[in-house]
Amino acid sequence: VSILVRTGQAEDWSSLWPLLQGMGKTESEAEVARRVAAARRQVEHFLPVATSQGAVVGYAWAQHHSPHLRSGTSVVRLHDLFVAPPWRRHGAGSALFDAVARWAARRGATWLQWQASADALSFYARRGLQGDPCPDPEHPFFEIDLRQQAKGRASLPFDAPSA
Ligand SMILES: CC(C)(COP(=O)(O)OP(=O)(O)OC[C@H]1O[C@@H](n2cnc3c(N)ncnc32)[C@H](O)[C@@H]1OP(=O)(O)O)[C@@H](O)C(=O)NCCC(=O)NCCS
Repeated sequence: VSILVRTGQAEDWSSLWPLLQGMGKTESEAEVARRVAAARRQVEHFLPVATSQGAVVGYAWAQHHSPHLRSGTSVVRLHDLFVAPPWRRHGAGSALFDAVARWAARRGATWLQWQASADALSFYARRGLQGDPCPDPEHPFFEIDLRQQAKGRASLPFDAPSA
């Protein structure tokens, strides 16, 4: 299975909407569509999709928050990472996660942060990533320090071969 990741487009909506519903907690389609379209126009948001033979099979959503006023450090938050169930275990999740991590590093963010559901822990463990179960044991907190890459001190987990 060949998986490609590209920036999501307005034309992807009919494929994207069921994936957003799969991620959960969706408001009405019209409201969600309006917010997704607005987010796409902002450089602080990144909404890549994973495709297989042209079909959209997964998506991610990340947001770069404003820098800390004194230190200048900043966080990219990975809000969503979702692959349609029939397409799982074909590398789409890894390709999306790598795209988000590269985007965050390119933007000069200090940290990439997210909270994982229990179902996703094996996926992150495979990448050598362990979450902190505090304060929410159901959704461990993960953080990657992107400055390590900038200083060339260590290769980041998202550079690791996925096979
Ligand atoms: C987590 C998720 C995005 C992974 O997507 P995916 O496309 O299946 O991931 P990949 O194919 O890139 O998986 C890479 C490796 O991670 C590990 N992995 C992924 N899912 C796994 C699972 N359910 N159980 C055990 N290992 C798993 C495997 O080692 C896999 O490699 P392999 O298939 O060669 O063994 C997907 O399962 C999903 O959408 N889950 C529901 C939503 C969710 O929990 N999102 C994460 C929120 S933080």
